[in-house]
Amino acid sequence: MSESATPRKVRTHTLRDFKKEGRAITMLTSYDTFSAGIFDEAGIDVLLVGDSAGNTVLGYDSTVYTKHEDIVRFTGAVARSCTRPLVLADLAFGTYQASVEDAVRHGVELMQAGAHAVKLEGGREILPQVEALVNAGIPVCGHVGFTPQSVNQLGGFKVQGRGEGADALFADAVALEEAGAFAVVLELVPAPLATRVSETLEVPTIGIGAGAGCDGQVLVWQDMAGLSGFEPRFVKAFADLRSELSRAAREYADAVRAKSFPAPEHTFEQ
Ligand code: KIV
Repeated sequence: MSESATPRKVRTHTLRDFKKEGRAITMLTSYDTFSAGIFDEAGIDVLLVGDSAGNTVLGYDSTVYTKHEDIVRFTGAVARSCTRPLVLADLAFGTYQASVEDAVRHGVELMQAGAHAVKLEGGREILPQVEALVNAGIPVCGHVGFTPQSVNQLGGFKVQGRGEGADALFADAVALEEAGAFAVVLELVPAPLATRVSETLEVPTIGIGAGAGCDGQVLVWQDMAGLSGFEPRFVKAFADLRSELSRAAREYADAVRAKSFPAPEHTFEQ
């Protein structure tokens, strides 16, 4: 485990304590056993089984196509493969918008798969769902700003909360806290607005493209590690896994073609 990680399990109250202590919360997406185990060892506080799995694992061009069953399956893999982090699972598009019953039923399935909390996108229009989930014993993380499940309505990947939209975004974040959310993700939000929200809310904010004034940060792990090759302004690649994996695959192929692999030490005697 990294030196900066505390040994205790991270749960929702831990994140609130981190905010009080001024300790930044670290969150990465994870959808599989290897990344979950590695990020646990690295001291990441929260593993998000995001609907971005639709893009990063399943090859869709939008999270609109990610299915609940996919997230349930990936949540189980992540939960079985880590000890310390809080496992946060996304409610997929279409699993909560129509009714509070839908929200609770799908939330329960994510918790039974191993999640410690669920995340859903939206502001004041989904408060009944947030309240119903919290009343059912399911911790909820909000998500405002750019909400990828609404990309078709928002007209593309755009910064939200500029100009007149600022007050509405602020009111959404406050309302989510009042409805019982334990944290709120702020995606593609101007940094001054994200800072104002973070200073106002008692619960932590987790930013992605929302500046350093948030109480924590989240990135899609394949972007963070330079595997996806996706590096917009708000992403920093902390490694170049794409080149490294490509190099390994090419060297493997060369060795197979040259018949230098497998060598005697990789081969069984009769
Ligand atoms: O699904 C996801 O990866 C997310 C993050 C972008 C916050 O929701």
